[in-house]
Amino acid sequence: MRRPILAGNWKMNTSLKEAVELVTGLKRELAGVTDADIVVCPPFTHLTTIRDVVAGSNIALGAQNMYIAEEGAFTGEISPKMLKDSGCTYVILGHSERRQYFNESDEFINTKAKKALEHGLTPIICVGETLDQREQGITGKIVTTQIKGCLAGLSESDMLKCVIAYEPVWAIGTGKTASNAQAQEVHALIRSLLTELFSETVAQKIRIQYGGSVKPDNIAGLMQEKDIDGALVGGASLKVSSFAGIVLFNK
Ligand code: 13P
Repeated sequence: MRRPILAGNWKMNTSLKEAVELVTGLKRELAGVTDADIVVCPPFTHLTTIRDVVAGSNIALGAQNMYIAEEGAFTGEISPKMLKDSGCTYVILGHSERRQYFNESDEFINTKAKKALEHGLTPIICVGETLDQREQGITGKIVTTQIKGCLAGLSESDMLKCVIAYEPVWAIGTGKTASNAQAQEVHALIRSLLTELFSETVAQKIRIQYGGSVKPDNIAGLMQEKDIDGALVGGASLKVSSFAGIVLFNK
């Protein structure tokens, strides 16, 4: 049985005050949760403040991105070492918005994953097809290429420390969730790729989150699918009631 993992990707949202209010409310509402991992991923500028609010709670801290070098002349970038220092234990890598607006390639995401692991951060590695690709019937091909590229050269023990997020681009922020069956089909494909690339043991242990318009009223159905182990939530993670409703899907 894989332990569910529910993560909130706040993207470029919240003032510092709003962020503190949000996480304070989540701490209160979710204090009793012991059977799932809960992660919040605020913007960089809020990380250390939020670290102090969640200290000692069951909420872990994640970042939304990271650069590959430890330090140096990379104006505007944030290193894995800095994320560790700011209290992060997770980092989202290769989100479709990073791929789309900042031209991140599978190869670059792969390097980021290796660097994150070197620094003891758990990468949440994102994959997913666009609407155009789904309509062309090449979802499987696209996700296979992304998985193979992003996970290239990882050892089994490294892989066991990763989380994968399947986020169909057409379902992100659109209110159009993939159906349970559509999501399950791709999750099953990813798990079979993990068997092929690593081992059956790895494939059975890795948690694969679904992301794309997850809400309190669709999470339970998604979580009933065999290969869906959690959610990476955007819009609905910005409100205490909706993110708490998602985390408490089985209560
Ligand atoms: P929405 O939940 O807003 O569709 O965003 C999903 C997402 O991109 C999470 O990383």
